[in-house]
Amino acid sequence: MAEVAVHSERRGEGIVISDDWPGYSLDLFSYPAHYSGDLDCVIIPHGVIMDRTERLARNIMDELGDHDIVVLCVLKGGYQFCADLVDRIKALSRNSNRTIPMRVHFIRLKSYLNDQSTEDLHILGAEDLSFLAGKNVLIVEAIVGTGKTMKTLLKHVEAFGPKMIKVAGLLVKRVPHSSACVPDYVGFEIPNRFVVGYALDYNEYFRDLNHICVISESGKLKYKI
Ligand code: HPA
Ligand code: MG
Repeated sequence: MAEVAVHSERRGEGIVISDDWPGYSLDLFSYPAHYSGDLDCVIIPHGVIMDRTERLARNIMDELGDHDIVVLCVLKGGYQFCADLVDRIKALSRNSNRTIPMRVHFIRLKSYLNDQSTEDLHILGAEDLSFLAGKNVLIVEAIVGTGKTMKTLLKHVEAFGPKMIKVAGLLVKRVPHSSACVPDYVGFEIPNRFVVGYALDYNEYFRDLNHICVISESGKLKYKI
């Protein structure tokens, strides 16, 4: 029997992880031994990320399934989420009568040093996005904090005249002074703590960790630049 779609979820919020959620003990999961001592807890296990991603893929199919999509993957942090999301969309597309022609394009943003956002945001690989004109664009981003980065990126993409822009963000961080820039598809809303894993980094480390974890103070010191 086909799974029944439940459309009661509030959009733009996702699974809410509250500030007092202590996370799972690291002892309950496996993770690379080279990161022992560098993490406080597992905040979202890999399997939960995958299950949530599957549902986001279905929401995206339901809303955009009748159009071609240009997926704009925001590197580097977004590579894993984008790959898994596109994979789930392809699987849904295979198992239904609707197939979505998808193109995947990559752009690179960099604004973080250590655990701090820097003022200078670099957009690389986005010099000429004129092929986006008239297209339905799905921006895929791993994490949205203040929304400043997303706002800059949206303005940049809008200038190329796409027909529609939707944003999928795996994580939305509850930060003070966040702008109203909330993704259309949100995986999880998380506390204002620095998280790593599932391609999210701290100075390029921890991308090789499957779960989303909170970095420890000693981890921050160890990999500080
Ligand atoms: N982790 C990794 N990268 C980030 C984060 C985070 O918590 N916030 C913004 N970029
Ligand atoms: Mg980073």
